[in-house]
Amino acid sequence: MTELIYLTDSYKKELKAKVVSCKHKGQLWLVVLDKTIFYPEGGGQPSDRGEIVGKKGNAHVKHVRLSGTDVVHECTLDGVFNFGDTVTCYLDWQARYHNMRVHSAGHIVHEAVMQVASYLEPLKGSHGDHAFIEYKGSITQDKKYQIEQKANDIVSQNLPISTEFVTLDQLQARASYIPEHLPSNKPLRIVAIKGFEPIPDGGTQVIKTGEVGPISVDTIDNEDDLVRVNYSIEHHGETTSIEKTSDATSLIAALLDVEKETVDEIRASDQSVDELKIRHLGRSSELSKLTSQLGSVPKIDRQRVGLVTNQVKKHIEAALSERTKTSRLSLDENWIDVTAPGIRPPEGHLHIVSQAITEITRIFERIGFTRVRHPEVDWDWYAFESLNMPPNHPARDEWETFFIGLTGSHPVRKQGETLSDKYGQIVLSPHTSNGQVREMEKGKLPIRMINIAKCYRRQLDVSHTPMFHQFEGLYVDKDVSIGDLKGVMDFFFKNYYGAERVSRLRPFHFQFTEPSFEVDINCGVCLGKGCKLCKDGWLELGGSGMVHPNVLRSGGIDPNVYSGFAFGWGIERVAMMKSGTKLDDVRLLYSNDVRFLEQF
Ligand code: DAH
Repeated sequence: MTELIYLTDSYKKELKAKVVSCKHKGQLWLVVLDKTIFYPEGGGQPSDRGEIVGKKGNAHVKHVRLSGTDVVHECTLDGVFNFGDTVTCYLDWQARYHNMRVHSAGHIVHEAVMQVASYLEPLKGSHGDHAFIEYKGSITQDKKYQIEQKANDIVSQNLPISTEFVTLDQLQARASYIPEHLPSNKPLRIVAIKGFEPIPDGGTQVIKTGEVGPISVDTIDNEDDLVRVNYSIEHHGETTSIEKTSDATSLIAALLDVEKETVDEIRASDQSVDELKIRHLGRSSELSKLTSQLGSVPKIDRQRVGLVTNQVKKHIEAALSERTKTSRLSLDENWIDVTAPGIRPPEGHLHIVSQAITEITRIFERIGFTRVRHPEVDWDWYAFESLNMPPNHPARDEWETFFIGLTGSHPVRKQGETLSDKYGQIVLSPHTSNGQVREMEKGKLPIRMINIAKCYRRQLDVSHTPMFHQFEGLYVDKDVSIGDLKGVMDFFFKNYYGAERVSRLRPFHFQFTEPSFEVDINCGVCLGKGCKLCKDGWLELGGSGMVHPNVLRSGGIDPNVYSGFAFGWGIERVAMMKSGTKLDDVRLLYSNDVRFLEQF
């Protein structure tokens, strides 16, 4: 005989019991316990479902029925239940609570029907999906609203519904209507809504009429001398949030909702972190309300729900500590740490060509050269003719010159001289050699000049830019020899490139020097032995030579008394060789890309 715990406590969702028997029948196992909270189908109320969890097995209860005095739980079973095993029963509370409410609603509707049509004789009720109460007799449709209204009056009064066990005699003394076939030899369970007559009932009931929620009397069906009053209650909103979430899936969904809302709120809120902590993790927080329901979750689902709960807590804590960090930062706004290292503003530097110009100038200054400036836009005379290149001389072609189509008066033009006579067209000077005769025209000897300027040529490709820089050296004095040229070259190389670097003069041809040389420097990698970079041990730097007598004459200097040497090299090439950079495209130097420029 199973002890029917649901009769005395309809709200018990969990119960420890002992296995009395566990038999196999078809696909199912029939489990009988010494006591149960599972309601067996009967009295118009559907059976409960849920889980029975033992140490060695888990049963999923699909249906429950009464068999004599035993309650039989029809289950699928994982594992085994042995006689005497202690197991825990967990109700599918959501379904059960709904059933309880529908059942109590039936009693309420019955009381309402009795108020409207007391002559009807109750026969039976069904409190499942299509709930009704059946009577002998008939009532008209227009009573539907009266019944519904009276039923809802009872609901809204939130009257207590009590159950008790009485003898048949006691029941007869209290109730005007006693159904037939009630056993006289054992206690009867009766249910009474406060203020109404008790009714014998073996089902589960809510304890207050208010819990049922709004009742709707849907139809009244008369057939022969029977009438059915069909009613229904709301499925949603009828349970408190606790009961609603007591199954694992809905509890997890609720937890995740709370997490999202809480994290969003923490991020957006101006409240202090402490206040937020109390609100969202404290005892009366939404989270703690939900976690307190963990006990009503079927045991097999608890671990799952527990894991989610921990995750949710962690995420909320993380959001709080994020806020802690940001609040510290906002404190810092008014607080200066004088010991903190300053934030260095990004520091610019001179362009590599400007750096090279300064360095080259400094080196030559140490041996008596002075940096001078001569026009970058000049007459043909200075750029070519004075340098021993008469008009139409083929050597001029080497300079890809920009003629800008202008002529103009020359400040030192001699009387009677015309521009075309001597100075010719204005050009963008293609080299710094234009400064040679201009320097000589100053009339000061000896000359030790370094003319550094921009030069222009009609060339644009990976190894040419239309504007570039040269430095032009000129030394004119008495008895200047090739030995001086070589000495100055070596001095410059050792100072600019390093002590182990030396120069080599290789015969070449320029119109304005005789003899002319190309100056080479020994390779920085192999120091002249020959390697992959230089091939034969030497790298070419630029032109030089002994100043041609015609050039000295152009500058008004007597080549029989004075001699000199000159050299002219590209700054870009000299500087790139020093930094060890092999540029695939020299145009990078002037494309103003800081990522490239800041390397130097
Ligand atoms: N002006 C020449 C050029 O642009 C370079 C040059 C070669 C300059 C020999 C000189 C020199 O002073 O002596 O290619």
